[in-house]
Amino acid sequence: MDVLEALQSRYSLRDFAEREIEEEKLEKILEAGRLAPTASNQQRTKAIVVRDPALRQGIAEACSGQAFVGKAPVILVVCADNDRLMRCGQSARTVDCRIAWSFMCARAAALGIQGCWIGSFDPERVRALLGIPDGYAVPAVYPMGYAAKDDGQRREKKPMEDFRVWKRF
Ligand SMILES: Cc1cc2nc3c(=O)[nH]c(=O)nc-3n(C[C@H](O)[C@H](O)[C@H](O)COP(=O)(O)O)c2cc1C
Repeated sequence: MDVLEALQSRYSLRDFAEREIEEEKLEKILEAGRLAPTASNQQRTKAIVVRDPALRQGIAEACSGQAFVGKAPVILVVCADNDRLMRCGQSARTVDCRIAWSFMCARAAALGIQGCWIGSFDPERVRALLGIPDGYAVPAVYPMGYAAKDDGQRREKKPMEDFRVWKRF
């Protein structure tokens, strides 16, 4: 499967099968995150792999009670320290985390594993649960696993004309 095919197969999964993610597939997913670019090549991103059921339950509660989060066999929590605003006004560490997540979720999709980016969560609760030090931003919680059932339906994306801007806005 090439990269475009993997991206075409990716979707937000909220209905997880009761099936573990194999160790070697998890390693492949993490390897994609490790290879992601980082601002000034700082490489300060950490991907915390959460498999413990009690911790998953706690994280689900920190995700505004989105119960499906706790049903994923693995929750990846991506974080990074050493914050610095780039000249463009964006936080380097949160951008680094999001790029690492994008790489990992593309690799996961290529392996038949899906997940759902969670933006609605309390980072301080997740920090406390996982012992993440204060200097780390926690911008990403990503429950992932195999689909209980994949009907092949994908959310429609706007056409290229809505996305592409030639030359000037
Ligand atoms: C930044 C961000 C935050 C999101 N937060 C949540 C969330 O808290 N809960 C949820 O169920 N889905 C969340 N999603 C998933 C989106 O709803 C989903 O990506 C969107 O509907 C498009 O569907 P697709 O991922 O299948 O293409 C989030 C996605 C992004 C990119």
